[in-house]
Amino acid sequence: MTTSPVEEAAALRAQLLKWAEAYFERDAPVVPDADYDQALRRLEALERAFPDLVAPDSPTQRVGSAPLSEFQSVEHRLPMLSLDNAFSSDDMDDFHRRVTERLGDSAVTYCCEPKLDGVAVSIVYEQGSLVLAATRGDGTRGENITANVRTISNVPLTLSGEGVPPYLEVRGEVVIPRDAFERMNAQARAADGKVFVNPRNAAAGSLRQLDSRITARRPLAFTAYSVGAVEGDLPGTHHAILQRLRDWGLPISDYMQTVSGIAACDDYYQALARQRDELPVDIDGIVFKVNGMAEQEKLGFVSRAPRWAIARKFPAQEVSTQLLGVDFQVGRTGAITPVARLQPVFVGGVTVSNATLHNADEIERLGVQVGDTVVVRRAGDVIPQIVSVMESPSSDLTPRRERIVFPDHCPDCGSDVAREEGEAVIRCMGGMACGAQLKAVIRHFASRKAMDIEGLGDKLIDQLVDDGLVGSVADIFRLSQEQLAALERMGDKSSENLLASIDQSRSTSLPKFIYALGIREVGEATARALANHFLELDALLAASSDVLEGVDDVGPIVARHIRGFVGDDRNKRVIADLLALGVNWPPVTVASGKGPLAGTTWVVTGKLESMSRGDAEQRLRSLGAKTASSVSAKTSTVLAGPGAGSKRKKAEELGISIVDEPEWLTMLEELE
Ligand code: IVH
Repeated sequence: MTTSPVEEAAALRAQLLKWAEAYFERDAPVVPDADYDQALRRLEALERAFPDLVAPDSPTQRVGSAPLSEFQSVEHRLPMLSLDNAFSSDDMDDFHRRVTERLGDSAVTYCCEPKLDGVAVSIVYEQGSLVLAATRGDGTRGENITANVRTISNVPLTLSGEGVPPYLEVRGEVVIPRDAFERMNAQARAADGKVFVNPRNAAAGSLRQLDSRITARRPLAFTAYSVGAVEGDLPGTHHAILQRLRDWGLPISDYMQTVSGIAACDDYYQALARQRDELPVDIDGIVFKVNGMAEQEKLGFVSRAPRWAIARKFPAQEVSTQLLGVDFQVGRTGAITPVARLQPVFVGGVTVSNATLHNADEIERLGVQVGDTVVVRRAGDVIPQIVSVMESPSSDLTPRRERIVFPDHCPDCGSDVAREEGEAVIRCMGGMACGAQLKAVIRHFASRKAMDIEGLGDKLIDQLVDDGLVGSVADIFRLSQEQLAALERMGDKSSENLLASIDQSRSTSLPKFIYALGIREVGEATARALANHFLELDALLAASSDVLEGVDDVGPIVARHIRGFVGDDRNKRVIADLLALGVNWPPVTVASGKGPLAGTTWVVTGKLESMSRGDAEQRLRSLGAKTASSVSAKTSTVLAGPGAGSKRKKAEELGISIVDEPEWLTMLEELE
């Protein structure tokens, strides 16, 4: 049976769209590039031979075209303005007062949207077809980047649906979603290609390509946030206009919401600020727009910004400062981490004077030296990082640069250091004889999620180790009141309190105990999985690598770390001492087999509104479910809050059921 060109073109188009979706949307190519290119060339040939076959949404229309020698300049029919900024709720109150005074009405509805941190573009549709796309430029004239914007997979090349105006200029932001950015950089790093500092730079660099075939390979995404010049009718509110854009196939923000009054704007700002780090894209604030178009017109513009909108900025997450020096810190596992000493700066809402430099590879990648001006990033609770070195024009004023030299002995105990094969970090070989390692081990052991010894803080731990009172975690349970009371800044009362909390911590649980041991890569979830699997500590200590790998959450590397830890004589001794000194726990009761969710395995991801992830897991376990930290074929259901990223994606790929928080809460009500 022969296939007609029509059928063949349709089949190729469907195939290519599927492959492109895997490549761009999921960043998981299903065929080699060469296969994709071959199919694409075949479709191009068919479309050339039968021009009637060219569909406006054909993948041939998105591959990019021959490089331009330069971008043409285009004039915007209406200028692309910027926004006034607000930095506090007082600034917002002032804005609201100005709006209400001018409108003579105190009841104002605002449309709230994330301020996307990308590149502004204008896209013109004539009779529903994309005819022009331009950058903002100086606001009056921008650059013609039509060929590049045509390659962005979520930008419709033709609009569909009812009532598309004959001339419609859509404005919005082009970004690269965070997870796609990470993958793109990881691939670039592996191929020694260009690594970008942040998603915004990557989006800007990708749009500025004269060769749109390069742009086509970048995971760009567009979000419409307003319209420019329009011939034809549109609804009377900003919110309804954007809904209409969505009906015609244009992507808009999922987080857009209308609210009444300025207090509700503050609530929206606070809610999104809390979710900021879990959102799929970088945002640098919230934009508030008067919703009614008649009101917007009445308010008008002042210089280059509208009076009807304002951007309330989040605290900057990236700022520049000077690298004053580098200290080397020894961690729990002996890893020696270079820590940047910085000229203090305010970033991400706090003053930062230290940032991690990770390891020697990272220092080399950044090309950073002491004396450089560096860009520091602090996002949410993440420890501050140095993301790049700013190029500073060399002059007599430029401070002298100094190379960063790694120590060849432990800076704390002087032991030899070694770099394990395949690892980027160097480690102190001193083990517990190294004071710095011992202190870090004790800090972890005493921490809240481990043995939870209240009152045993960092300063005290330093004192106890430096004075030789504690040489292993077991020694904590040998401390006497006289010893403690004799320490500096320790009275009778506080030493009594500390002894009481040490005593209390003896009664723990097996998962907490396993976690407290501080085995590499054994976090809380893995410790719990190990406890549930083995039920008894002895069974865990005796388990072979094969048996360990049978536990949820445990792969070959974790199994190797566990075997290495429990095989070490010093660790065996410490564990025996802890038990002899009265550390104990009740028998592990495994919920599975009992309860309505018995036999199911759940993964909780993203941010939940009503409780922490830990509490949600606890609830699930109390109903008999198992909980795990990573999604695999063994997972039954994923509970995904807003901002769920790679775990949600993996669940989608594996066809695992996903529930959101409201659905889950309803389910709990029925089960409990
Ligand atoms: S509205 C006249 N909405 O922020 C108002 N802008 O300083 C036009 N931006 O370069 C802008 N997200 O690219 C608007 N939801 C949003 C936005 C947004 C990001 C950018 C825009 C512009 C800058 C304004």
